[in-house]
Amino acid sequence: MTRKLIFCTNLRRMGDKPSCAARGSKSLVAHATRRVATEQIDVEIDESVCLGRCEAGPTVKEIPGGFTQYATLELVDQLLNNLAGKVGN
Ligand code: FES
Repeated sequence: MTRKLIFCTNLRRMGDKPSCAARGSKSLVAHATRRVATEQIDVEIDESVCLGRCEAGPTVKEIPGGFTQYATLELVDQLLNNLAGKVGN
């Protein structure tokens, strides 16, 4: 099974609900994509429309696995380090 990290990059310009792109998810995707290419980490990076967890975004779905909420560069690095088999980085 191909491992994936799916980043919500939904941008909601109107309404009272937050959206992941407005909270910086595009820069998280760019960072993850760069690391995967540079370090040849065996994971597919993908983008998605709303994953239904807007209040706790940016949201990242790991396949197989669960959700990461309030994603930051540090949390994305932790996910990638785990996938790359690195410990303590
Ligand atoms: S906008 Fe990202 S989970 Fe809804």
